[in-house]
Amino acid sequence: MATTLSDIPKAFLKGIAHSRIALLGAMAVTVIFPFLLGAIAYDLIFHIPNPYVAGAVYMILGPGFIGGLVLIFVGLFFARGREEVRLFTLAYFRDKLADESGFDKIRKLVFLGVFLTCINLFVVSVMAYSAYHYMESNAFCGEVCHVPMTPEYTAYQNSSHSRVNCVECHIGGGASWFVKSKISGARQLYAVVADTFTRPIETPVHGLRPARDTCEQCHRPEKFLGDKLVIKDKFLDDEQNTHVKTVLLLKIGSAGDKAADSHGIHWHVAPENQITYKAADWKRTIIPEVSQRTADGQVIVYRSGEADEQLAEASHLQERVMDCMDCHNRPSHVYLSADKAVDGKLLTNEIPRDLPYIKKQAMAVVTESEYTTGEEARTAIANGLTEFYKQNYADIYDNDRPKVAQVIEGVQAAYQENVFPEMGVQWDTYASHLGHANEMGCFRCHNEEHEAENGDVISMDCDTCHTILAEEEEDPEILKTLLGDD
Ligand code: HEC
Ligand code: HEC
Ligand code: HEC
Ligand code: HEC
Ligand code: HEC
Repeated sequence: MATTLSDIPKAFLKGIAHSRIALLGAMAVTVIFPFLLGAIAYDLIFHIPNPYVAGAVYMILGPGFIGGLVLIFVGLFFARGREEVRLFTLAYFRDKLADESGFDKIRKLVFLGVFLTCINLFVVSVMAYSAYHYMESNAFCGEVCHVPMTPEYTAYQNSSHSRVNCVECHIGGGASWFVKSKISGARQLYAVVADTFTRPIETPVHGLRPARDTCEQCHRPEKFLGDKLVIKDKFLDDEQNTHVKTVLLLKIGSAGDKAADSHGIHWHVAPENQITYKAADWKRTIIPEVSQRTADGQVIVYRSGEADEQLAEASHLQERVMDCMDCHNRPSHVYLSADKAVDGKLLTNEIPRDLPYIKKQAMAVVTESEYTTGEEARTAIANGLTEFYKQNYADIYDNDRPKVAQVIEGVQAAYQENVFPEMGVQWDTYASHLGHANEMGCFRCHNEEHEAENGDVISMDCDTCHTILAEEEEDPEILKTLLGDD
């Protein structure tokens, strides 16, 4: 019996009609296809601005479409025992391939199969391409998981890396990391849906990729040179909120390149001195042992006085090669301390500086209690400041209400940019390791308690890392020298 071309779609439809699984798949594909194609075309040309809509397209419609195709395939070829559908069973192919007279039919069948597969492959690859871009987007990372990511997303937007995509630090390039990130992403998505994520989200991020594949794609510390003048503006808690300055010459140094030897702060990331350390706790705050491999292959091991006990009592023992993130642990999620947040707003006059005792009052009200919601904090800040000025500076309160209102707004902003009670993020939940506030950061190692066999210690000499040119001075001489009197 010769088969005409028109028999093929007929047999195809018949096959689908006779298999419930295939029918289900066909229905899904027919319903989803027009929506999906339209949405993808729209996203490619105009971009879908709402991350939730894009999420529905790529995480529900897309998989639905592919699932439908799979069902059709399974229904047609593997739902055995239906004579009418024989056209599409593997046994049929086997029979026909052995029988020369059936070649004609087989050829057309193969032709149809290839044709449909090509169309589907095309649609699926276009979809995969735009889904990939969607899942790598900051909107997906930062907004879809709205509640859990609010702190990181807010802090990120206020940082100097706000134009760097989340994925460039968290994932980097390469297929294996892409797959890894999707597996961990699926786990995180589950945690969000099931509401099992931790508050605050735990840090450090233990699966983070080594810095050479992320930070070092953009930054090259071997090209750094010399020292950096850092001026820190602060305000005292006296009536005038006196403006003082700390001036440091930070020995940024270099990881060494050509004529420049590695030196100073970025000496740690020079390829020839690998620093490895053991941390006894999850947060890497207790460091019992530090090893330094020098250029000539020698290994110097520094151990803290209590290394044995610390190692024995370790809650989460880990060994790690030091990289950028051990100092720059907050390059993009920069949460300021209360002091720095308020000073920052005073410097820009978002909190007017000429209101008496505003530094002191602002500090008092933002740190008075660990508020449990943002709303509670806003109210407490407004009430606390209103009360203070009403009682102690009635003339200001009566005559300059707008200024009091501006103060309240500024202090609320200082709080809201850094504290997220709903996610368990309070002041200093995410401390920076870039300096040595609270004996942390550099002083985890540079505390003169880590000693090598020959008696050398990891230096705590104040001049190792910086020269302090002025400390909390109103009018530092050094700035007059550098900037001239004006
Ligand atoms: C410049 C690099 C960089 C960018 C860009 C970046 N991150 Fe991070 N992120 C980090 C580092 C570094 C850490 C902390 C690593 C550590 O301490 O182990 C971190 C930590 C986190 C954490 C854990 C909680 C915390 O605050 O420590 C989350 C969640 C997070 N990032 C989400 C995001 C999201 C969402 C985006 C995009 C909106 C983003 N990150 C962009 C570098 C980056
Ligand atoms: C995609 C490129 C890119 C990546 C990846 C990147 N950065 Fe940056 N980084 C920049 C740019 C651009 C600036 C300058 C921003 C500016 O000055 O406004 C910058 C600024 C900085 C600064 C100085 C400003 C500041 O906030 O103190 C530091 C420190 C820094 N990056 C560290 C890191 C670290 C650590 C990582 C890895 C976790 C990293 N960067 C990853 C592009 C990148
Ligand atoms: C031992 C700690 C440490 C390590 C490790 C480290 N840095 Fe830094 N880095 C610092 C300090 C401290 C500063 C100065 C911060 C400041 O300006 O207040 C700095 C400054 C910078 C700056 C700004 C330079 C400038 O002139 O303003 C960049 C960019 C930077 N680091 C990138 C990196 C990258 C990339 C790595 C990893 C390859 C790295 N750092 C490793 C401590 C470190
Ligand atoms: C994991 C341990 C560890 C941490 C954390 C650490 N360092 Fe170091 N650092 C070392 C070791 C080990 C040496 C070599 C011994 C020495 O010179 O005292 C060193 C040396 C240095 C040197 C001298 C480099 C030279 O030219 O010889 C500077 C500067 C320095 N560190 C700055 C910093 C700063 C700034 C930080 C914090 C932002 C920091 N370190 C954090 C382990 C650490
Ligand atoms: C291992 C390196 C290192 C050593 C040792 C060190 N510091 Fe620092 N110090 C830093 C870094 C890094 C910063 C942060 C700079 C920044 O915030 O940009 C800093 C900041 C400071 C600041 C300014 C803090 C602020 O925010 O106002 C003071 C003051 C200071 N150090 C004093 C000291 C004194 C005193 C010693 C000696 C006991 C000392 N430091 C030893 C690395 C070091």
